[in-house]
Amino acid sequence: MDLGRVNVFLALAVIILSCAPSNAQLQIGFYNGTCPVAESIVKEEVMKALNDDPGLAAGLVRMHFHDAFVRGADGSVLIDSTNNNIAEKDSPANNPSLRGFEIIDAAKSRLETECEGIVSCADILAFAARDSVLFSMGIPYAVPSGRRDGRVSLASEAMSNMPFPSFNLTELTGIFNDKGLSQEEMINLSGAHTIGRSHCTSFRRRLYNFSSTVSQDPSLDPTYAEQLKKQCPNDTNPSIVVPMDPDTPTEFDSNYYNLILANRGLFTSDQALISTPETMEQVLENSYAPLEYFQLKFRDAFVKMGSIGVLTGDEGEIRMNCRVIN
Ligand code: HEM
Ligand SMILES: *[C@@H]1O[C@H](CO)[C@@H](O)[C@H](O)[C@H]1NC(C)=O
Ligand SMILES: *[C@@H]1O[C@H](CO)[C@@H](O)[C@H](O)[C@H]1NC(C)=O
Ligand SMILES: *[C@@H]1O[C@H](CO)[C@@H](O)[C@H](O)[C@H]1NC(C)=O
Ligand SMILES: *[C@@H]1O[C@H](CO)[C@@H](O)[C@H](O)[C@H]1NC(C)=O
Ligand SMILES: *[C@@H]1O[C@H](CO)[C@@H](O)[C@H](O)[C@H]1NC(C)=O
Repeated sequence: MDLGRVNVFLALAVIILSCAPSNAQLQIGFYNGTCPVAESIVKEEVMKALNDDPGLAAGLVRMHFHDAFVRGADGSVLIDSTNNNIAEKDSPANNPSLRGFEIIDAAKSRLETECEGIVSCADILAFAARDSVLFSMGIPYAVPSGRRDGRVSLASEAMSNMPFPSFNLTELTGIFNDKGLSQEEMINLSGAHTIGRSHCTSFRRRLYNFSSTVSQDPSLDPTYAEQLKKQCPNDTNPSIVVPMDPDTPTEFDSNYYNLILANRGLFTSDQALISTPETMEQVLENSYAPLEYFQLKFRDAFVKMGSIGVLTGDEGEIRMNCRVIN
């Protein structure tokens, strides 16, 4: 190796090392030394809440997704609106559909008593989402932590960063690519729609007002459409909800992909996953894959999603109340 190269190498090493504090990585067991009870307290609060209402597992999984896609996984989705600011959680992408905020509050309040000012709201949400996947999947796994909390939350950014249920494949892939996730990861992550519910308002157009020529989406199984119309009348009641996987609404299986293949995906965005031969092939693979294998792949992608745009080191803050910037 010539000396010039060695110098370049050393210079690069110095630059990399001097960037280290703000470039700090998430770590498994980040709170080992500072708040060893952090993950078990979150888990206790999550399991307590899910015993009362198993549906909230889906709520927490979705909340982590909506946090991660807007300004990274920085807890910005947890911040309340103020007189001067409409926060992410009050964007139509989140309100009234996001749920489970009280679980995060309960965990935070216990953690502030146990280890004041140590555990970020962003990490509490990441742990709670992991525990919710465990609850519905049955397999434990480690999630890296060390996230710091953001100090900005804007409803407008939720609207521009979240995918809509009306999106086609190109739009879906684009919005996931923007976050560093591939189309294949997007397809695997969408498997989360095997748990939880949707408001009728999120897909009503497919039943009653699809286009100027047909009122009902022809890509929706007609028998299923009839069933959905009974559950979701053509009026403006915004509070009615239906399960997204009516067969097994609380089980994290791969039935979502079977539903899409049967034209029973609830959203245009679900059905869009079989709109090209390549993606159709992946949906088929996911429906055939051994369940444990698919679950593992989902978890890998979900953990990756949880590291999007995180704040670490001395960036951001550790919020005292997850709803309020310090
Ligand atoms: C691919 C683009 C996606 C779109 C367009 C989308 C859209 C939606 C919509 C419209 C709802 C129903 C909300 C309501 O009306 O109550 C929903 C629910 C849900 N989504 Fe997604 N989603 C997408 C991807 C994901 C991802 C990546 C995850 C997590 C990994 C996820 C997890 C969930 C869960 C768990 C629910 C049920 C929430 C509950 O029961 O409270 N979604 N999604
Ligand atoms: C915390 O402890 C766990 C279990 O012993 C270990 O796997 C992990 O690497 C530790 N993390 C840190 C940051 O010390
Ligand atoms: C997807 O939607 C975008 C934006 O509405 C549109 O420009 C594009 O042509 C659509 N792509 C397909 C394949 O329908
Ligand atoms: C649904 O309701 C709207 C508004 O009331 C009406 O214009 C439309 O024709 C109805 N569609 C169907 C399929 O009943
Ligand atoms: C039907 O869809 C069109 C196009 O999006 C929209 O402008 C109109 O308000 C919708 N009508 C009803 C009754 O929802
Ligand atoms: C998606 O999941 C399937 C298993 O169902 C797996 O074969 C594939 O490697 C996964 N892709 C990614 C990018 O995680």
